[in-house]
Amino acid sequence: MRIPRLSFLIAAAMLAVFVLNFGSEHLRPVFGSIYYARKLSKPTRGSSNARRAVRGHFGTTDDELLNDGSAPNSKAAGGIMPNSLLSKSLHLLSGGKYEDVEGVEAVWQAPPTGVLRRAVVFIAHGCNHGAIDWWPPSPSCPQCIGLPEELNVTLHCLLRGYAVVAVSSAARRGSRCWQSVFGGGSEPWDYSQGSSPVDWMRVRRVLDVVLPREGLSSLPLFALGASSGGAFVLGLPLVMPGRFSGLGVQIMGAPLGLLQRYRMMNQSAPWPPTLFVHMPRDTNMARLVAENIRELQEGGVRTREILVQPQPLTPLYLTQRCAPEVDEHTSRELYDILKAADYLDARGYLRFNPRSQHAGGWRGILKEAGLAGLERLRLQPDASPIAEELNLLYAGHELCSETTTDMLEWFEGAVVS
Ligand SMILES: *[C@@H]1O[C@H](CO)[C@@H](O)[C@H](O)[C@H]1NC(C)=O
Ligand SMILES: *[C@@H]1O[C@H](CO)[C@@H](O)[C@H](O)[C@H]1NC(C)=O
Repeated sequence: MRIPRLSFLIAAAMLAVFVLNFGSEHLRPVFGSIYYARKLSKPTRGSSNARRAVRGHFGTTDDELLNDGSAPNSKAAGGIMPNSLLSKSLHLLSGGKYEDVEGVEAVWQAPPTGVLRRAVVFIAHGCNHGAIDWWPPSPSCPQCIGLPEELNVTLHCLLRGYAVVAVSSAARRGSRCWQSVFGGGSEPWDYSQGSSPVDWMRVRRVLDVVLPREGLSSLPLFALGASSGGAFVLGLPLVMPGRFSGLGVQIMGAPLGLLQRYRMMNQSAPWPPTLFVHMPRDTNMARLVAENIRELQEGGVRTREILVQPQPLTPLYLTQRCAPEVDEHTSRELYDILKAADYLDARGYLRFNPRSQHAGGWRGILKEAGLAGLERLRLQPDASPIAEELNLLYAGHELCSETTTDMLEWFEGAVVS
């Protein structure tokens, strides 16, 4: 009786990812998970005592905006000022270097001079994305497209002394997903069958080439992945046991039994400390993550969980994250339009999933209302700063940069102790 329930749970989590991504193509990384669910034993519920933290706040708390209190945004995001640390620091990201490493697309940057070099973080994008999303266009990366959450992750990693190495999945046409321990993505790889884990080998090659060449190979190495990239990151210890000192997994869970399988492969290196950042609005994913945490903790692995809740749109929110593309005037006008169209509730929370076409979708509303400068804005799914930010506010399934510093602090603590 238990196993079928878990199969159902994973299937439901994966279905939820698809639904929350309606309008983009995130379905592929999810196939195959049921197979792993069958291998499970003894499922129980709950995340026991993993340290938990919450970002954002869901509908029930008082809205600081109405109370004339502090803005719901962090200080780094500018609080009540239109400029954020991100919008003021974009020049620091102009050192992102695009490289074709033996046919593998990568973009990387070392921390600014004067900043103590602490570690290296490898970054795995989600489906429909790539390494070029994590830096703004610059002479050393003209291909870069710079999406706001990605940029903010990169910035805060660099400022804390982390070299950042982003690699693109092999599938550069179509899904752009990673190969997955779930068996989806570009080419299914079932590690029990020993076939070639191409994407992992490509990442290993980039790290083997770039880190020694740049004098970074003696630093601890961490990994961060979101969605399909999160599943990918959970496969890293299987391919490179002992190499990673910590894993950050966003909006994704592992196939259950992963740790068991890892140990069956006689890996003597311990599984690295693993942080899960997820959006509990996606209840199925939240349950899958809870199962993962339980399994890892029972296996003696350090875990942490950070919940990302919905947050309200504020008049300055978009310019704080998407400047210079979204200037202050546009940010305020956009807010007013969505408010007037009843797309936001009384306190600014999104009433609809921005990935759905409800009420013509937010793009339709902006067009209809004649937002000034609309033609300058990138609006296409997975390449649109505004779309990404609205997805984050809705907190269904999106990358979140707000938890970056928490993640790095936790990584550092996990390495030291
Ligand atoms: C960027 O990341 C930092 C560190 O995690 C966070 O405090 C901040 O809210 C994020 N967003 C912006 C726009 O600064
Ligand atoms: C792991 O080690 C055990 C004991 O040495 C051995 O019986 C087993 O075949 C090994 N498994 C693998 C996958 O190498």
